[in-house]
Amino acid sequence: MIRLLIDADTGVDDSIALLYALNHADVEIVGITTVTGNTDSEQAGVNTLKILDLADAPDIPVVIGERQPLEEKWHGPVTFIHGENGIGNVQLPDSARSFRRQDVSDFMMEMAERYAGELVLVTLGPLTNVARTLRRYPDFGKKIRRVVSMGGTLNMRGNVSPVAEANFAGDPRACDIVFQSGMDILTVGLDVTIKTRLTVGHVELLKRVRKESCRKAVEYMDQALTYYRKGSRDQNYSLDDCPLHDPLAMVAALHPELFQIQRRKARIECGGTYCKGMVVTDTREKPFQAEYVSFAVDVDRERAVAYLLAAFWE
Ligand code: BDR
Ligand code: CA
Repeated sequence: MIRLLIDADTGVDDSIALLYALNHADVEIVGITTVTGNTDSEQAGVNTLKILDLADAPDIPVVIGERQPLEEKWHGPVTFIHGENGIGNVQLPDSARSFRRQDVSDFMMEMAERYAGELVLVTLGPLTNVARTLRRYPDFGKKIRRVVSMGGTLNMRGNVSPVAEANFAGDPRACDIVFQSGMDILTVGLDVTIKTRLTVGHVELLKRVRKESCRKAVEYMDQALTYYRKGSRDQNYSLDDCPLHDPLAMVAALHPELFQIQRRKARIECGGTYCKGMVVTDTREKPFQAEYVSFAVDVDRERAVAYLLAAFWE
């Protein structure tokens, strides 16, 4: 059994990562915090409650997190990929669940203390909430077993600039604070997420073989992904498939053995005109002052997709 604390800017691929974890037999989700990224943290919270309903999930606390990055200004919702509402403009019923009204850092620390040494923290959006928690509670990092973070790129081009990926570029300072915290961090970036694709064929298969308890979730995924693929096409992908960003990070949290990992001393570029949000690693004999971070550089993508799909039919 793996205990997860999940931090998400609940857009289309975040929601699929959540549905996957919610349907995974060996997972307990102790809480979900939301952050501004694909959409604002409040809307991400609304989406999260609806996703919990879709999965008939138990009463998992959902806490609304930071509304703005630490130093940047948020550029507004990424509607061309995630729709006006963050979930591909799919209209899901309003949820009767309510948020846990608690400061996000207090909640994160409370969970970290309650499950000290056990929690895997999975981040699917900018790292604002985690950085604020580390600033407020310097011991937070010591209580978390591992962080698995969707973001960054080492060898691939970026997706919001030539060199930067959306989550890390969304709050570079927060990312650098988390990188320098000394926590055990595995990043799952564009190096592996771009080449791991979910095809129309996969979704059609899921529609045929899904278990009955996943019917609503799979219908939702079909609709949300139709929108998402159109947005991805604008980024030069095909209409027949889309990259798996956040769902692959969730796979990495649960099945790290599928990934090839490199450890590097790493920092995040927090300034500059062209490179803000870029991951900078140093392999020189006398490297710069930095902590080691683990990077997923390759993945067994067939098995990763198979594990993802299996949660909905086994
Ligand atoms: C990341 O940015 C967001 O659009 C996705 O949800 C994912 O977390 C990919 O760069
Ligand atoms: Ca995300």
